[in-house]
Amino acid sequence: MAGSHYFDEAPGTRSDERSVDVVLPDVSFRFRTDRGVFSHDRLDTGTAVLLRAVPAPPPTGDLLDLGCGAGPIAITMALRAPAARVWAVDTNVRARALTARNAAALGLDGVVAAAPDEVPTDVRFAAIWSNPPIRIGKAALHELLLRWLPRLAPSAVAHLVVQRHLGADSLHRWLEQQGWPVERITSHAGYRVLAVHSTGSGPRGVDRDAEP
Ligand SMILES: C[S@@+](CC[C@H](N)C(=O)[O-])C[C@H]1O[C@@H](n2cnc3c(N)ncnc32)[C@H](O)[C@@H]1O
Repeated sequence: MAGSHYFDEAPGTRSDERSVDVVLPDVSFRFRTDRGVFSHDRLDTGTAVLLRAVPAPPPTGDLLDLGCGAGPIAITMALRAPAARVWAVDTNVRARALTARNAAALGLDGVVAAAPDEVPTDVRFAAIWSNPPIRIGKAALHELLLRWLPRLAPSAVAHLVVQRHLGADSLHRWLEQQGWPVERITSHAGYRVLAVHSTGSGPRGVDRDAEP
């Protein structure tokens, strides 16, 4: 059973904050986690696999951490691309508040914690990194990806980490069926990291923003 953090926009559970240290080859930081937010007392293994596998983000532009939780992915993006704007998007209000506080504590002014509807619709992302909420179910996950992946800028890449036994390979196939070129760049500790390449104009070559 997934924790309620997957579904609660405003977790009612009592707060119980912890500090978690992240040590990567290029950056290290400490961030706060809490009950009611994904991975309460540690850096999730899948997130760690993603952060070690993913190539450096573009140095400028708009970057997206889809499903930010307490913010370890958004923070890593911001440390690696300090001049970029990093949109840290989550439906969970406690997650967004933690991400904003964690980024501020590290002096990362470029991180914007936002609810999905707060991201202006004309923003296009130079990169998307995500440990997506697989446990919301296949239909909801597909809907989520169909909402955000078409907003990749031309030539941009989304990196998604997915547990093999939670359907990484079927997600890989589904993404390709939608028209996105996908490569598996890492398979480690039971997780796959998928690189999803922008088609430049949305899935199946349809330019969703084109004038009729
Ligand atoms: C697997 S967790 C990853 C959290 C964080 N990025 C990390 O690596 O620790 C997925 C996150 O997606 C969020 N989420 C669930 N549904 C969402 C939606 N429709 N839009 C954005 N985020 C969502 C959950 O609240 C959760 O924080």
